[in-house]
Amino acid sequence: MAIQRIAVVGAGQMGSGIAQVAAQAGLEVKLADASPDLARKAVEKLGAVLAKLVEKGKLAPGDRDAVLGRIRPVARLEECAGAELAVEAVTESQRVKEEIFRVLDHALAPEAILASNTSSISITALAAATGRPERFVGMHFMNPPPVMQLIEIIRGLQTSDATYQAVVDLAKKFGKTTVTSKDSPGFIVNRILIPLLNEACFALQEGLASPEDIDTAVKLGLNHPMGPLTLADFVGLDTCLYIAEVLHRELGDDKYRPAPLLRTYVAAGWHGRKSGRGFYRYQ
Ligand code: 3HC
Repeated sequence: MAIQRIAVVGAGQMGSGIAQVAAQAGLEVKLADASPDLARKAVEKLGAVLAKLVEKGKLAPGDRDAVLGRIRPVARLEECAGAELAVEAVTESQRVKEEIFRVLDHALAPEAILASNTSSISITALAAATGRPERFVGMHFMNPPPVMQLIEIIRGLQTSDATYQAVVDLAKKFGKTTVTSKDSPGFIVNRILIPLLNEACFALQEGLASPEDIDTAVKLGLNHPMGPLTLADFVGLDTCLYIAEVLHRELGDDKYRPAPLLRTYVAAGWHGRKSGRGFYRYQ
């Protein structure tokens, strides 16, 4: 059964990007956030993003209204009841995510699929908070979701073949490429990315080079679209630290220990681009 109606929980950068991808693929989307204002504002912001795509000739003017018309902001998770799939994209807190999944588990039809966009929390553990672990799966979008080609699909211990296939098919409908990962800390992308970003923090902390030179070295020397410190600011330093801590704790190897400089910046409230300051300053 092809999925036609989805709910996206969390109207931040990831959630609204996922809502855009789904609506552009023709799905009906409910975008939920704890604050009704946030969900409404996210849809307004998407209107501006889509208008830019129209300006660039990447979207027909009529399609902008059609895409926007398919996204409905909602304030209560119970209003997601008709969705065949719910994708959760809220803050990286196991407790908060489990609470959301408990409510969704009651609100959605028994055959609906629950998915988490978590970057590091165990899919098996989140699934255990629901009564449908076989219809629970990880769908890890990359930031920014409308631009990035990849979706990592993570199978929890009890994820069924039918659930896995349904989200792989949906990712294809989104025009994305999937990779499949076991439910292991950081999955594939963050298992490799976070040690790279963390090492750049150690390099800066040791005075190896300036932030600009560390970024230029990786950007031009390795042909990456962004240098690691710029990328860390883009992902969010709090998120980077959280994932580094998960890797360190769960894999039990000191090679994953977070750089003290990263801890210091997070403690100072320097969370990167979203807070106006990280390794760089932002308007
Ligand atoms: N919808 C559709 N298209 C969009 C868009 C949107 N919401 N936002 C931007 N675009 C398009 C633009 O129109 C532009 O297209 P064009 O080149 O044809 O004009 C293109 O995307 C690039 O946008 P910009 O010109 O604004 O910006 P850049 O060229 O500087 O690219 C970037 C920005 C795509 C973010 C690029 O710098 C990049 O790829 N950076 C690396 C990002 C990355 O590594 N992400 C993964 C992070 S890890 C992760 O997410 C996992 C998590 O768990 C931590």
